[in-house]
Amino acid sequence: MTQSTQQLLKTLGIQHPIILAPMAGATNADIVAKVSNAGGLGSFGAASTKPEQLRVLIRDIRERTDLPFNINLFSGSTEKYDHSVAAGDAISQRYRDWHTELELDNTPEPIALFGPAEEQLDVLISEKVPVISFHFGVDQPALKRAQQSGATVLCSATSVCEAVFLEKQGVDIVIAQGAEAGGHRGTFIGDYRDSLIGTFALVPQIVDAVNCPVIAAGGIMDARGIVAALTLGASAAQMGTAFLGCTESKIPTAWVKSLKNAEADQIAVTEVISGKPARGIKNRFIDELETINDGLLPYPAHYSLSRLIRAKAAKENDADFLAMWSGQGVGLFKETTVESLMQELLTNSETLLGHRELAAVFRKSI
Ligand SMILES: Cc1cc2nc3c(=O)[nH]c(=O)nc-3n(C[C@H](O)[C@H](O)[C@H](O)COP(=O)(O)O)c2cc1C
Repeated sequence: MTQSTQQLLKTLGIQHPIILAPMAGATNADIVAKVSNAGGLGSFGAASTKPEQLRVLIRDIRERTDLPFNINLFSGSTEKYDHSVAAGDAISQRYRDWHTELELDNTPEPIALFGPAEEQLDVLISEKVPVISFHFGVDQPALKRAQQSGATVLCSATSVCEAVFLEKQGVDIVIAQGAEAGGHRGTFIGDYRDSLIGTFALVPQIVDAVNCPVIAAGGIMDARGIVAALTLGASAAQMGTAFLGCTESKIPTAWVKSLKNAEADQIAVTEVISGKPARGIKNRFIDELETINDGLLPYPAHYSLSRLIRAKAAKENDADFLAMWSGQGVGLFKETTVESLMQELLTNSETLLGHRELAAVFRKSI
């Protein structure tokens, strides 16, 4: 256990086995650099960042830290879908009604919200980003290009079969994304319903099936979760929802308030917001679309239909129409800052590990 964690720390060039999950729309240069400066791995969710903005962002991170950081992309395969499919009548009517209610223009035409993945990767390569992670799988040319640039490559797996596949492809580190996880399911093989495997069950099975280091993700909110993940054989813990509580995440206050008040049973996996399964807090947006749940456009075209609605909701702090991604650990959510969260995670993990050798990786002085 200690050895695998130390190997991962060395590979990533970080001090502590704590990773800020890349969260498109909820990460920025400040939070990424602060997590890296605290000895963890800061990650930026870049899927929705256009290539030239991405270059500016990477330089901004570098002005704030000299330490390694991770930039995350969605697999280029998500850009290939049937553009001729039209939204169903009931869905189209629901969007029209909401646009009228919210005093917005007509429902916009679908657009490419993310990518282009290949051009984003060009930027990461030319900027020599040290760690690159992928969601929804990774294609072989992208993986090879990233590794040839010197980057360490990570990718999420939601089943043992996906983890084995990624290792065979040559991915350096696998992220085991348990069913509890907030945000999009990274599933890229089979039906996502078959891969809703809890972190506690998924991590040790992936650890036994692959030789590369494994990072655990999903429902890890505090030091208890980190130590449990390491005990299950993971080499590090990746945390998303817990970091949404840091002021630096800059998510709308309505989302923070909903996270503070939500219980685990108010969190659901739904396809209706983006067209792909993702876990978030149930609200009017999800509930009303779930009653139809037919005639969605393919992902990510479907996600783009609600862009005016979501932008207005963010501007006006309207929790009814935000996409409030969250994991099932939400009942442990609290408002904090990166500095105090990292401090608390390190101190409590070290205490929980007691005399065990692994406690040293949480000590600031190592
Ligand atoms: C708001 C939010 C946005 C996310 N966006 C991304 C993303 O852009 N790329 C990615 O690989 N994972 C994304 N995820 C999933 C995380 O990488 C990770 O699997 C998850 O946060 C772990 O579960 P937790 O939220 O319970 O800690 C997102 C998660 C959240 C909560």
